[in-house]
Amino acid sequence: MSHTVLLTGPQLAPEAMHLAAAHGVRVIPTTPYLPEQELLAVIRAEQPDAIIVRQGQLTRAMIDASYALKIIAKHGVGYNTIDIQAAADLGIPVTIAVGANAQSVAEHAFALLFSVARQTAWLDARMRQGHWDKSSANGIELFGKTLGLVGLGSIGSILMDLVAPLQMRVKVYDPYLCELPMRAHVEREEDLERLLADSDVVSLHCPLTDSNHHLIGTAQLARMRPGSILINTARGELVDTEALVRALREGQIAGAGLDTFSPEPPPADSTLWDLPTLVATPHVGANTAEARDRVGLVALQQILAVWSGAELDPRCVVNRHLLGR
Ligand SMILES: NC(=O)c1ccc[n+]([C@@H]2O[C@H](COP(=O)([O-])OP(=O)(O)OC[C@H]3O[C@@H](n4cnc5c(N)ncnc54)[C@H](O)[C@@H]3O)[C@@H](O)[C@H]2O)c1
Repeated sequence: MSHTVLLTGPQLAPEAMHLAAAHGVRVIPTTPYLPEQELLAVIRAEQPDAIIVRQGQLTRAMIDASYALKIIAKHGVGYNTIDIQAAADLGIPVTIAVGANAQSVAEHAFALLFSVARQTAWLDARMRQGHWDKSSANGIELFGKTLGLVGLGSIGSILMDLVAPLQMRVKVYDPYLCELPMRAHVEREEDLERLLADSDVVSLHCPLTDSNHHLIGTAQLARMRPGSILINTARGELVDTEALVRALREGQIAGAGLDTFSPEPPPADSTLWDLPTLVATPHVGANTAEARDRVGLVALQQILAVWSGAELDPRCVVNRHLLGR
């Protein structure tokens, strides 16, 4: 009997689709961000054996309505849109594509950092409006500065190495990290407040969890150095947006580069849009052909593994602690 995969978003990359075809798997893409009742109706009608979560929420009601479901695979690594407890209650593993989009996201964080430091987005917009800001523009050189990484997983580790040629020093705050990689330019910092105070650039690379909402708020922004830069390619909820807007408006920090927001997208009248020192991108850190190909393929491989009864790499199963495995 053929298996069915429901995909909440556009079709998978060709390599993953070839693999699906080779295994006789039917992949049903849906419109991204379907309203809950519409997605529920699709789930009830199709009864998928697996769901790949690409865009939008997967709620308890949706999981409970999927009687044939064996696995939920995130098309990426940020799994906060999936009710992992509801899945565990039914014995269903929720997997993420560990590391598959990390290179792209790290490069995007790097790009945001340069863009903020040298005002490239702002100056580009100004030139298109007919301005020539040669005498007033003033950038920040990154050479030799200190980068504070909050989270040293797949993405943080790549960024750690990307900044090495700039002779940047790297401080790492990651309470769950077992072992710091051996690098002359990298050291561990046990205290987040100290990391904020000692860094010229702070870049967030930890997951959003129940305990780190607004990890960066008014008090934390006040600890950051004058002239410093905040980069967030992780999750918007990690940063208190209003506090960040105040810090940027008052020049408390020099700038921010954001790829993730709370909510997404931010409203058209958001106070963010008045800030010349902000560089914003619409959650596209992983949007490269290379990352998309890898992520889709990994998600499908995880699904095929579960269907065939093979063991999954435990690092990929984000609700394993709830499954009692
Ligand atoms: N912008 C995008 O398009 C995009 C794409 C992929 C991932 N992301 C986000 O980036 C995050 C990191 O991705 P990754 O692949 O590096 O994940 P990862 O799981 O490999 O690494 C996360 C690291 O954060 C650490 N950590 C957990 N909680 C922490 C905390 N409170 N403070 C400091 N460190 C903490 C973990 O120990 C781990 O080392 C994802 O959770 C996701 O939200 C965004």
